[in-house]
Amino acid sequence: MHTAVIGTQWGDEGKGKVVDNLAEKHDIVVRYAGGANAGHTVIVGPQKYVLHLIPCGAPHGKINIIGNGVVINPDRLHEELEMLQGKGITLTPETLKISDRAHVITPWHLLFDVITEMHKAKRQGAIGTTLQGIGPAYELKAGRHGIRITDFVNSTDEEIKNKLLALADLVDIRIAQMGISPTAFVDAINAKETEKMTAGIRPYTDTAWYINPEKTLKALKKHREQIRPFVADTGQYLENAILEQNKKILFEGAQGTLLDLDHGTYPHVTSSSSTIGGIYTGTGIHCNIENRIGVVKAYTTRVGKGAFPTELNDETGERLRTTGDEYGATTGRPRRTGWLDTVILRYSVRVNGINQIALTKLDVLDKEETIKVCIAYEINGRKITNFPANEQELENAKPFYITLPGWKKDTSKIETYDKLPENAKAYIRFIEEQTRTPVKYVSAGARRDQLIIRETKIEQPPLDPDE
Ligand code: IMP
Repeated sequence: MHTAVIGTQWGDEGKGKVVDNLAEKHDIVVRYAGGANAGHTVIVGPQKYVLHLIPCGAPHGKINIIGNGVVINPDRLHEELEMLQGKGITLTPETLKISDRAHVITPWHLLFDVITEMHKAKRQGAIGTTLQGIGPAYELKAGRHGIRITDFVNSTDEEIKNKLLALADLVDIRIAQMGISPTAFVDAINAKETEKMTAGIRPYTDTAWYINPEKTLKALKKHREQIRPFVADTGQYLENAILEQNKKILFEGAQGTLLDLDHGTYPHVTSSSSTIGGIYTGTGIHCNIENRIGVVKAYTTRVGKGAFPTELNDETGERLRTTGDEYGATTGRPRRTGWLDTVILRYSVRVNGINQIALTKLDVLDKEETIKVCIAYEINGRKITNFPANEQELENAKPFYITLPGWKKDTSKIETYDKLPENAKAYIRFIEEQTRTPVKYVSAGARRDQLIIRETKIEQPPLDPDE
């Protein structure tokens, strides 16, 4: 029995906690897309781990795979391995395997991200990326300028240097295209306003207007030796594990459906395939994934720019942000907040073939008098129940809300589904009806044990959302 855990909204749905709970029932946990732009919080006992690249199977002693679809910053990987070691978890080549086909993120990629954002800001509006070099890594991969892990560990120093200098050339070209001087570019990186966002990049700009290749090469060489023992043909490894050893695989999604490069709210998306299709291209295997769990936050959040029909720019939105502690795990940015949107959920169910929902952060709504749920949009005078591709339409979409009564009770200590307040159950039933998908997990609170699992067979709700 294999399982995929996929975000149904704009990321930050609480996938880490769901994966954390499911890890025990699987043998291998696999990341297949994205990179250190993700931030998965796992709480085991008194210990809290924020994992960006390493799969959530690590605190459970499971085998962890970083698939070929992931883009890896060796610096961040090093930090994460050290962080885990500091907490008593030492990953070995037996417990962590990194695909030889995954791509490497270098300091040049980080610079590329900043330049691209500055350029977009000037012309069409920035994306609001995490500045982790993710977009450039996939862009350069598609442009065949990338450096794969196999090239990284198997090339000579001279070959790697030439590849890195070729990347530096591309950065230079982008800066020149910006029509600003290199000094102005470095000043922008070091500016007070961008201090937090660009902190990881500044060490590479402290001595010269652009990065010092020798210095960077030295740092990368150190990381290269650290990565080498973990490198494997992970597709082949997974195939053997599935076919010959009958191992159970847990695919850990990063970001969310609406951040998917193809299916998300383009151009305000990440650059990878965060939806179910990404599992196949991002791992190099095919298997029947029986459990396709869509993680749904009980309300909606979004980081970065782009349309957000149910966004609340008022006291309620602020309350959701504070109560739900809605600040980015990777960037610390406050998240935008709004009511639950079932137009989005139906779309995600379709794109990913979701057959179970894990509803998270239900407790954040505990104190609300009434709760609104968007079931359709009004766009140019028409009622729309399908998620539109056009961003302008989405910007103009007026949510069509159903108002449900709140439950005004603390749900964080409830251990079984039956004991949930009636109005909370009604809220869950409403989500099931709108999405025609059963809610199997309900999470109310950050701790691991604050997760209700409905063991009884849940009938597929029959209602048509258009009715
Ligand atoms: P990038 O992935 O850094 O290129 O950022 C592209 C967009 O995706 C930005 O709006 C980011 O805020 C958003 N994003 C990327 N990763 C995450 C995530 O893990 N959670 C929420 N938003 C994310």
